[in-house]
Amino acid sequence: MDKGGWKPALALVVALLSTYAEATSSLHMDDFIEAVRRVEDGDPGSDPLAVLRRLRGAAGLNDAFIRHFLGSADSGGPKLNPSLSGYLSKAVHHRVTEDAKEEGVVLTPDGTTVALAPLLLGIEAGFLAKTAGRVRGLYQLTLAKDLDSSPVLGPDGCWDNIASPQVFTLLSSSPSALTAARVNGGMDGAVLGMEVSAKDGRPPALSGLLTEYYCRPLESKGLDAAPRLVSRRRRENFRVLAAPPVLARQVVKAEELQRRLTGRSKLEVKEKKQLLALVKEGMEEFVHKYIDCPPIIPRCMWGAEPYRGTPTNLSLPLSFMYIHHTHTPSQPCLTFQQCAADMRSMQRFHQEDRGWDDIGYSFVAGSDGYIYEGRGWLRQGAHTLGHNSVGYGVSFIGDYVTGLPSQHSMGLVRDTLASCAVGGGRLVADFVLQGHRQVVNTSCPGDALYAEIRGWEHFGEVKKGK
Ligand SMILES: *[C@@H]1O[C@H](CO)[C@@H](O)[C@H](O)[C@H]1NC(C)=O
Ligand SMILES: *[C@@H]1O[C@H](CO)[C@@H](O)[C@H](O)[C@H]1NC(C)=O
Repeated sequence: MDKGGWKPALALVVALLSTYAEATSSLHMDDFIEAVRRVEDGDPGSDPLAVLRRLRGAAGLNDAFIRHFLGSADSGGPKLNPSLSGYLSKAVHHRVTEDAKEEGVVLTPDGTTVALAPLLLGIEAGFLAKTAGRVRGLYQLTLAKDLDSSPVLGPDGCWDNIASPQVFTLLSSSPSALTAARVNGGMDGAVLGMEVSAKDGRPPALSGLLTEYYCRPLESKGLDAAPRLVSRRRRENFRVLAAPPVLARQVVKAEELQRRLTGRSKLEVKEKKQLLALVKEGMEEFVHKYIDCPPIIPRCMWGAEPYRGTPTNLSLPLSFMYIHHTHTPSQPCLTFQQCAADMRSMQRFHQEDRGWDDIGYSFVAGSDGYIYEGRGWLRQGAHTLGHNSVGYGVSFIGDYVTGLPSQHSMGLVRDTLASCAVGGGRLVADFVLQGHRQVVNTSCPGDALYAEIRGWEHFGEVKKGK
């Protein structure tokens, strides 16, 4: 074939391939990282700031507020092909539609969902910083801008398909501006932005940074042996980074800046006071929900079957937390896929073989850094015969007759879930924690785990003569 013949043919193949790539690119973080890699490969040697600007350009993240901190998104460089640019725009541009679909979010390998815009803005602010730890606009770009417009936070949502996610539907039809995914992305953006600020030496490629943070597999010790900077430690890292009063001040600053940039009048003293009061209220909810409480994977994310029949509502606050182990599955789960599969198999066993309405436990702790929602805070469980109406049943996935769950997952239940329950009015402040075997004739939660929980705060012996 002569030259003139194969060139158009090649162009056609390339065009077909890129349409194909777009058609198969899901809103999974793995696919987004792949798209970032293609942007990087298209402009070899470009630094991460240039790549971030181009992503911002593709997604139209270039309003006056953003430019104030980061400059214009227009970066020159080779043009992105339309299918890549279309994908990036769809993946990054954040909005909530009328019918409660959240766009601009991706599913991460750990089973949580993040909004990409605040994530990328935080990282860009970090790369721009001249002094380590001092990142201009970090909180305003990642979180603060929406903390005042949303006195009510959340909700979380669910994907149409976990293997090839395309549509994310929120769990409530009147969502706030600060959805769970928006908060996750903002926290990750703040954590990573701070991390990359003014690092010496050659900056890491954006694709590499995201891969390290989101895609690192856990080894058998779970999070106990994992590095500090991984998405599963999102809340722990953010808690260390941002004090609530600092965050509250940033919210007010963001509002003042927004007014200045849009030519509106300055906040009057009285307005500022009102705003501060509103922000304080919002911050309390924020701190409770996203800093004091553990991350909880909702039922829809692990693929729960519906509750069968009519649930019995608990009357709150309860007085007990009962600790269980699952025994079967006998191995701790270390990935979202495995923990979710374990949840489904336990639910199947409880519903099909035992004939119960639902999975028995209120909550289940994986060793992947997450708590999985069973019957949840409001519905009575079937975990501790004769005591289901007075306590929550929390089970660790695994068999703990001789070994223990990871320190991390025990801390999540002992400290975080417990204080979250008290703070949220679900457990009384002086609640009593017991092992399943203390009130039912069973070896559960296993000798080793039972010996362990006897040293936990709130542990209580059974009162004699009852
Ligand atoms: C249980 O609580 C839900 C709200 O969470 C409510 O809609 C329902 O009516 C309650 N059921 C009973 C029997 O009170
Ligand atoms: C507890 O269960 C075991 C067998 O599972 C049985 O041998 C024992 O008698 C039971 N104890 C009581 C107090 O019911």
